[in-house]
Amino acid sequence: MARLVLLTLFFTAAWISGCSLEIDPLVLEEQLLWVSGGQGQVNTFRIPLLTFTPQGSLLAFSEGRKKSASDTGAKFIAMRRSTDRGYTWSPTAFIVDDGQQPDGLNLGSVVVDEEFGSIILVYSVCFHEYQCKPSSTMMVQSLDDGLSWSKPRNLSTQLGVKAFAPGPGFGIQKRYEPAKGRLVVCGHGTLEGDGVFCILSDDHGKSWYNGAALKSIPYNQPKKSQDFNPDECQPLELSDGSIVINVRNQNNYHCKCRVIVHSYDGGLTLPIDYVRFDYELIDPVVAAGALEKDEVIYFTNPLNQVHRVNLTLRWSLDHGKSWEKKAVQIWPGPSAYSCLTSLKSGSGEDRRYIYVIYEKGHKNYDETVSFVKIHLYGGL
Ligand SMILES: *[C@@H]1O[C@H](CO)[C@@H](O)[C@H](O)[C@H]1NC(C)=O
Ligand SMILES: *[C@@H]1O[C@H](CO)[C@@H](O)[C@H](O)[C@H]1NC(C)=O
Repeated sequence: MARLVLLTLFFTAAWISGCSLEIDPLVLEEQLLWVSGGQGQVNTFRIPLLTFTPQGSLLAFSEGRKKSASDTGAKFIAMRRSTDRGYTWSPTAFIVDDGQQPDGLNLGSVVVDEEFGSIILVYSVCFHEYQCKPSSTMMVQSLDDGLSWSKPRNLSTQLGVKAFAPGPGFGIQKRYEPAKGRLVVCGHGTLEGDGVFCILSDDHGKSWYNGAALKSIPYNQPKKSQDFNPDECQPLELSDGSIVINVRNQNNYHCKCRVIVHSYDGGLTLPIDYVRFDYELIDPVVAAGALEKDEVIYFTNPLNQVHRVNLTLRWSLDHGKSWEKKAVQIWPGPSAYSCLTSLKSGSGEDRRYIYVIYEKGHKNYDETVSFVKIHLYGGL
C-alpha cells in the first residue's frame, strides 16, 4: 500500500514537472470481444473501431456480417460498452441493422464531439454498388454515452452522392486552431476513384461539407500495381494544430510502407507538397491504428511487408519523424485491422493506459476481434 502511494506521488510529480517517464509498454490484459462463426445471427465480425467517450467510457464497434465474411452483404453494427476502463463489457447491442441488403453498411469512423458531448458514427451503405445504387454516407449519433442511438441520417443529401468509405478508425474534433471544434472525418473512395477524402462539420455534426481530397493517380481509371492509390486512413491532430493522416498504400507506390499526408488548414486541403512515405512503417496494405497522446504518437499494424501477421505497437517521440527501436509485439499470428484510443480525464490513471482493438486469429485474421489494455510505463 505504501509503495502504491509512493508510486502515485512519483507519477504525479513527474507529470507536474513535465518530465515524462520512459515509455515501456506492457500488455496488461486482453479479451475477445467478438468471435466469428456460431453466434446465430452473425457469420463474421470485422472492422473494429474503438473510442473513448466524454464521460470516460470505452465503446467498441464492429461490423457483424450476417451471411459471409464478404465486404458486401447485409450487416449489423455491433457495439459493446465498458464503464470500467475495459475490465468488463456490456453484452453486444446491434445499433444499426441494414436488413437483407445485397451491399449493406460498412464501417466507418467514430468521432467524439467533446464540446457538445456527443458520439457520432459515420458509415457507408451500398459502397460497392453491388446490386444497388447509389452509395450513401450515413450517420448515427448518441447523446447518452453510447446507451442509445439515433435513427440513421443520410449525409449524402448534404455532401452529394459519392462512394465514400470513412476510416476505418476514428475521426477527430480539432482541439487547436485552425478550426478549433471542427469535426474531421477522413476516408477513401472506390478502388478506381480512390484517394483520401475528408468531410467536415463546424456545427457539431448538424451539417457536413466536403473538405480535403488527395486523389489517386490515374484518377477514376483502372489501377496497376505501384500506382499512387492512397486508401483507408487514420487522422490525428498534433499540438501545432496540423492534421497528420496515416494512410494505407493500396498499390505499394514507392514502398511497402505507409503514406503520411498533412493538412495545415483544418482538413480543407491535403497538399501534394506534404505527402511523405514512412519507410519505417512497413505495411502489408491494411487499415492501421494511430493515436496521439501526451505528445507521443502510437501506431499499430501487422508488421510485415506481405502478410497480415505480427500485430505490433510502435511509438514515436518526435511527432512521427522517427520511431523508437523498441516495439511491442501484441500477436505474432494472423492479425489485420486495428484501432487505438485512450481516456482523456487527465487523471494519472488515464495517462497510463492506451487501448487497442484488432482483428486476431490462429488461421485467419477474421476469427475474432480482440481488445487489449496497455500500460505505457512497464506496469509501474
Ligand atoms: C441518400 O441521399 C441521396 C441524395 O439525395 C440519395 O440519392 C440516396 O438514395 C439516399 N440514400 C439512402 C440510403 O436513402
Ligand atoms: C514481427 O515484427 C518484428 C519487430 O517487432 C520483426 O523483427 C519480425 O521480423 C516480424 N515478424 C514477422 C513474421 O513479420
